[in-house]
Amino acid sequence: MAEHVRVLIPEDEIRDKIIEVADKISEAYKGESLHLICILKGGAMFMCELAKRIHDVNISFDFMSVSSYGAGTTTSGIVKIVKDLDEPLEGKNVLIVEDIIDTGHTLNHLSKLLMSRGPKSIEICTLLNKPSRREKEVPVKYSCFEIPDEFVVGYGLDYDQKYRNLPYIGVVEFD
Ligand code: IMP
Ligand code: MG
Repeated sequence: MAEHVRVLIPEDEIRDKIIEVADKISEAYKGESLHLICILKGGAMFMCELAKRIHDVNISFDFMSVSSYGAGTTTSGIVKIVKDLDEPLEGKNVLIVEDIIDTGHTLNHLSKLLMSRGPKSIEICTLLNKPSRREKEVPVKYSCFEIPDEFVVGYGLDYDQKYRNLPYIGVVEFD
């Protein structure tokens, strides 16, 4: 079966929005340090682009990889750490950088876990948000785009590990 990707959010719109959100983050943490935590693999492209646009803040990076177990395609809320952080979080301003918040199970669990490591503050920044799908509450401080309940790819997000490199967000369609 052939498939193609229909553009949902073009590259220039994503760039403009990331600059806007990076400015808000710069303002919020001006003169302070901020520890960005990328949730792999989906959050990688977004975190790089976001970090480049943050100014007047001392930025450090760390990376974490998690997998959610569930029946079929839905997440169950059981989150397994595949790769943990390298650095401790104690006393740090932490910003979790995620590709998309869907049911909310992953970040609901993860933010509680990271909070237990004693950061000074912890907030969430996501490229995409599907509020209509939420099952678990997630306090999202920075969200670039709210999207409808469609499976999207590109800008770090995959379908079967494909399409992560697309510079735009799109929807996979089957002809
Ligand atoms: P949640 O626990 O349901 O919020 O799951 C979030 C994770 O599911 C994201 O980090 C993505 O890895 C994946 N995911 C959810 N929706 C999509 C989508 O539309 N495209 C690609 N991955 C998605
Ligand atoms: Mg993800």
